[in-house]
Amino acid sequence: MTKPHIIDMSGKVALITGSSRGLGRAMALGFASAGADIVVTSRKLDACQAVVREIEALGRRAMAVDCHVGRWDECDRLADAAYTRFGKVDVLINNAGKSPTYDRPVDIDQRLYDSVFDVNLKGPFRLCSLIGQRMVDDGSGVIINISSTASIRPRKSVITYAAAKAGVNAMTEAFANAYGPTVRVNCIMPGPFLTDISKAWDMDAFAQRAKDAIAMKRGGQPEEIVAAALYLASDHASFTTGATLRIDGGAQ
Ligand SMILES: NC(=O)c1ccc[n+]([C@@H]2O[C@H](COP(=O)([O-])OP(=O)(O)OC[C@H]3O[C@@H](n4cnc5c(N)ncnc54)[C@H](OP(=O)(O)O)[C@@H]3O)[C@@H](O)[C@H]2O)c1
Repeated sequence: MTKPHIIDMSGKVALITGSSRGLGRAMALGFASAGADIVVTSRKLDACQAVVREIEALGRRAMAVDCHVGRWDECDRLADAAYTRFGKVDVLINNAGKSPTYDRPVDIDQRLYDSVFDVNLKGPFRLCSLIGQRMVDDGSGVIINISSTASIRPRKSVITYAAAKAGVNAMTEAFANAYGPTVRVNCIMPGPFLTDISKAWDMDAFAQRAKDAIAMKRGGQPEEIVAAALYLASDHASFTTGATLRIDGGAQ
């Protein structure tokens, strides 16, 4: 159940990548509940259209765009589609990401390596560049990049993912400098959230880890990221840029 928020996003347009499910879908529904119109995008149009119907049921406008964010030309097409439909983007959330598993680092071939960097770093870079510049030209805007605590606590099972997300942290500060004071650029660094990503986890091992090393003793629910994103997107965060907000239940 999506709760109404005290932050008012009426009249704003939010483009959220990877919003067909997981954290992206939760933010899409949360921003819509707060009054925003939403560009819902992932690789799968059907899944995006289902989220569009949920948003329209909340009384907001939404559009679905299929886009593989690791492909430069598809990012360009996504931006064009959003500006053609809504005439502006007030909030860009670079949320799409993936963390494929492997047995040993030597098993990571060039294709897998490239695909991890393409989705987690290249796509966010292109959309920050493209939509960020349009926001500067339009005189305002906010960008939120979704990183990961893997970027500061890299485990052996996520070497390429951790490196790509560390790039997202660095890129956030650089774009904040590039686009300030007109556009604010911040980063949310999630820890363990129970989404499709967690389906690959050994849940017995995770339960033990939560007991021993997570202050909140559990994984997060997707809805628990929404208020942080709304805050960063709002004028309440008017002096916050280049910042990273860790949301991991106090994981060590
Ligand atoms: N869940 C966690 O524990 C956790 C922890 C730290 C960081 N994060 C980060 O939080 C973000 C959201 O994660 P999540 O847990 O919500 O993941 P998720 O449930 O697996 O959802 C991922 C979303 O990204 C989309 N996506 C995947 N590859 C894409 C591509 N090439 N182009 C465009 N869209 C793509 C997926 O849709 P399609 O398959 O339809 O493309 C889906 O909408 C990611 O950046 C992730 O790295 C998550």
